[in-house]
Amino acid sequence: MESKVEPKLENMGNLVRSHTCGELRPSSVGQRALLMGWVDRRRDMGQIIFIDLRDREGITQIVVRSDADAEAHRTAEALRPEYVLAVEGTVVARDPQTINPNLPTGEVELLADRIYWLNDSQTPPFELTDDVRAPEELRLAYRYLDLRRPKMQRNIRLRHAVSWAIREYMNQQGFLEIETPFLTKSTPEGARDYLVPSRVQPGRFYALPQSPQLFKQILMISGFDRYFQIVRCFRDEDLRADRQPEFTQVDIEMSFPQREVLFGLIEGLMVKAFACANVTVTTPFPRMTYQEAIERYGSDKPDTRFGLELINLSDLFRESEFRVFKDIVQKGGYVKAITVPSGGRYSRKELDDLVEVAKQFGAQGLLWVRPDGDGVKSSFPKAVTEETLRAVLRRAQANPDSLVLIAAGALKNVSEILSGLRLHLGRRENLIDNGRYNFLWVTEFPLFVYDEKERRFMAMHHPFTAPLDEDIDRLTTAPEAVRAKAYDLVLNGMEIGGGSLRIHRQDHQRTIFQALGIRKEEAEEKFGFFLNALQYGTPPHGGIALGLDRIVMILAGEKSLREVIAFPKTASATCPLTQAPSSVSPAQLSELRIQSTDTE
Ligand code: AMO
Repeated sequence: MESKVEPKLENMGNLVRSHTCGELRPSSVGQRALLMGWVDRRRDMGQIIFIDLRDREGITQIVVRSDADAEAHRTAEALRPEYVLAVEGTVVARDPQTINPNLPTGEVELLADRIYWLNDSQTPPFELTDDVRAPEELRLAYRYLDLRRPKMQRNIRLRHAVSWAIREYMNQQGFLEIETPFLTKSTPEGARDYLVPSRVQPGRFYALPQSPQLFKQILMISGFDRYFQIVRCFRDEDLRADRQPEFTQVDIEMSFPQREVLFGLIEGLMVKAFACANVTVTTPFPRMTYQEAIERYGSDKPDTRFGLELINLSDLFRESEFRVFKDIVQKGGYVKAITVPSGGRYSRKELDDLVEVAKQFGAQGLLWVRPDGDGVKSSFPKAVTEETLRAVLRRAQANPDSLVLIAAGALKNVSEILSGLRLHLGRRENLIDNGRYNFLWVTEFPLFVYDEKERRFMAMHHPFTAPLDEDIDRLTTAPEAVRAKAYDLVLNGMEIGGGSLRIHRQDHQRTIFQALGIRKEEAEEKFGFFLNALQYGTPPHGGIALGLDRIVMILAGEKSLREVIAFPKTASATCPLTQAPSSVSPAQLSELRIQSTDTE
């Protein structure tokens, strides 16, 4: 009599997998195969049990028949999702009516005669499917399970393919990948540093690099000529969907560069990277100065996939009867507008909503004008004449169905309001083609921006950026007007890279520090090593850093960097999986001679 033996966990012994779960095709019918993977699904039809066995390459249907192998059937009866198996059997063709056209392996199945039960699994806290509905915090706490979902597997593989293509390309172009330290001295890039206390030098700290900026410049001084590195960078800043506290740059520097040579190099790199997702990229990319970007889009990273460009109305109000706008313009401010082609149909409520959107971007109010049959309708005060309003409609090229939205104030303010509104309207009116990849080089950024809080000029990119040759004379007389040899690479309205040609003369570097209000002693203390190095035959050099996470996010069609980073941080910079950051023992702190002032 057959005794019922409970299935037991088995060792892998010397089993060797013959195929992946995504590999079997009709050409293998009749062959023996040994697959290993996870139970994705199990369907028990009594005498026949179907198991979808999954590994990173795909899914293969396993068939276990009680009349073919009673023991295998008994094991199959005990299986649950995410159990780990090795299955041995014969590849058979499926009946035509059971072929699954959605699976690459869907024309065959594996008729099992031996199932090795290698490991069991707890029931996952959420379904491992693409349309997972679990809260993100839970997904991140069980990231190992979340990463098993097909979409995450695809995203992480895409990331690998892109990194690999970049390495191959950069190597072909003669760039050497050179590692730079993580335990280093702070190089300010505008964010806060993550600090690491030194045990052997009590009271002293390393900083994790915000970027390898100075090291890559020093590598040029060292004569390496062409450097790149796919490198982790660390910035303690406020987080958003497109910002992580640790993120990855494709960091690049070259000696004796011409801007156009560098642009050509990066355009070639984008062609290769985007080919990984079967996207064809057309080069060269358009170029636009910072000034033009601000004028036309109110943003230094414009999404050029749609129009709704900003229109300057300032001159129409300089001498107008509308005191508020007149004063703004006469004080150097701007009146600018956006024409929404079919916005004339918006209801009062929809118009009120738009005013609210504008307020989120810093507007105090938002005025509108539209044609109304032969007349004009607007939210302007009565004092504003129809003649002025008609001039606005003409300038805004309004058609009978258009709506013209108007904001006024300082250029920075108006730009922020209207560029925010423009993006909102682009989405609302379905003007954005998600299948398009619009690259744009934005050039000639200002070298400095005035920081109202600090009451001094700050470097817009970083203090190692060279000014345009023709603007050098203005460094002391009109710093706000000095343009930099700096550029950003923008894709669909997102900054995916930034760089510059650098200062390579020590005297110029000192002048810039001075213009930034950095005292001589402070410059020595912070950057003395670099100022020294600059004296030893520094070649002209320049480079760029690309945001790898952002590039992969766009290619994967994702809205958050967390979807393309294996182990990301939350918006509050925590890791729900490991629960970092965590407290440490008093012994660890005392060894570092650190005391916490946080009494909680
Ligand atoms: P920058 O600060 O512009 O330049 O950074 C380069 C690119 O890195 C990406 N990036 C980020 N991605 C995710 N999370 C973040 N917190 C984050 N911060 C930046 C962006 C950005 O365009 N040393 C200079 C480069 C140079 O001058 O060569 C630098 O780091 O895509």
